[in-house]
Amino acid sequence: MESFVIEGGRALYGTIKIQGSKNAALPILAASLLAEGIHQIDDVPRLLDIDVMVQILTRLGVDVKREQNTISLDTRTILSTVVPEELMSQMRSSIFLMGPLLARFHEVTVSKPGGCAIGERKIDLHIKGLKALGAKIEEVENHIICRADRLTGTTIVLDYPSVGATENIMMAATRADGETKIIHPAKEPEIVDLQNFLNMLGAKVSGAGTDMITIEGVKRLHSVPYYQIIPDRIVAATFMAAVGITGGKITLKNVIPAHLSKVIEYLHNVGIEIENDHDIMTIKRDNRRLKAVKKIITSPYPGFPTDMQAQFMVLLSIADGISTIEETVFDSRYKHVKQLISMGAKIEVDGRLATIYGVDHLFGREVVASDLRAGAALVLAGMAAEGKTTVHDIYHIDRGYEKLEETLQALGANIMRIKKM
Ligand code: UD1
Repeated sequence: MESFVIEGGRALYGTIKIQGSKNAALPILAASLLAEGIHQIDDVPRLLDIDVMVQILTRLGVDVKREQNTISLDTRTILSTVVPEELMSQMRSSIFLMGPLLARFHEVTVSKPGGCAIGERKIDLHIKGLKALGAKIEEVENHIICRADRLTGTTIVLDYPSVGATENIMMAATRADGETKIIHPAKEPEIVDLQNFLNMLGAKVSGAGTDMITIEGVKRLHSVPYYQIIPDRIVAATFMAAVGITGGKITLKNVIPAHLSKVIEYLHNVGIEIENDHDIMTIKRDNRRLKAVKKIITSPYPGFPTDMQAQFMVLLSIADGISTIEETVFDSRYKHVKQLISMGAKIEVDGRLATIYGVDHLFGREVVASDLRAGAALVLAGMAAEGKTTVHDIYHIDRGYEKLEETLQALGANIMRIKKM
């Protein structure tokens, strides 16, 4: 097991390049299964979750080659449509394999997915969408078996704009007979990236990022010689929050400011200065105390991202005044609160509402990461704290941040990865 040891109190300075988006790369890797051929995808981050996806694709028969951040996939020789249970249980995103396998091979078997422990994460919308396209789905013990001799385009109204369900339905519908409309889909930038990739494969998808996505089914798809994944907006936002917490001035390269509008708005509100010039962003905080914000409500894009809720809570923990956060996307996404309280934060949680009473300082402690973003938040808290913080179970953090400690060291943070026997 590995841990991070952090000595707090150092301001951050310097320039870093933001990694490609994990949440865009995962469905795009799965979507490559839709078309027979050799596809090359660039800016794929080197992360545990991507490793799991690569292992699954390999077990299905895909020849995957990886060089640095470029992955090439030869999808001509698929041997199986059964997603291995032990890999599926490691990552919820393996659910994305349902849509493409069903569309190309007319059958797929998955087990109930695993992933971050952040409340109940159902898959009813995925199932409902695939059924509407004509799939027959049965649950046998822990397995979900889907079959469809043919998929037929239809109109699917999502009760909630689920990111994963929107992506699964988009992928399945690319090879259906006729037109599919997804009403009330998720509008995240990763959905737009998937649409762009699918269209490179020869699919006819439009409307991603709006209230309706239209997919006109096609008979054949082809290989994609080169596709570049968008920058990771949550990783960028985490570094923006980091400099807000420690003070200093950093420059981020490879960012799309439009994807970060809500985060930028709230960082401005707490007193952080941000300037952008195309895909470069500079974030600065002087010695003045951060200001509390009345209320942050997490919601689907373009709302405030739930994936930044924990990191923002650290900022607000040391701000001047009382702030509140309402988490509306997931049921149980406050697992970092207990750990932050142990570091001296004053936070009360009542259901989905958290009230944060700003304190002057946090103190270094031994804490445990419970999920990916909670883990990132604890690293930020460690950088704000007086003394030494040890964050355990950092495999959660490695699921989403490429060599986080090396990037933070490059910016001047005192953080080390240690192995515990
Ligand atoms: C994706 C992101 C994750 C982010 C989340 C919300 C990936 C790989 N992960 O996860 O980082 O936190 O979006 O922005 O892109 N729900 C249902 N039924 C379903 C599906 C979802 O009730 O069939 C509920 C979930 O329980 C949850 C909410 O909808 O409360 C949001 O889930 P969803 O948008 O599907 O998130 P993911 O795609 O899992």
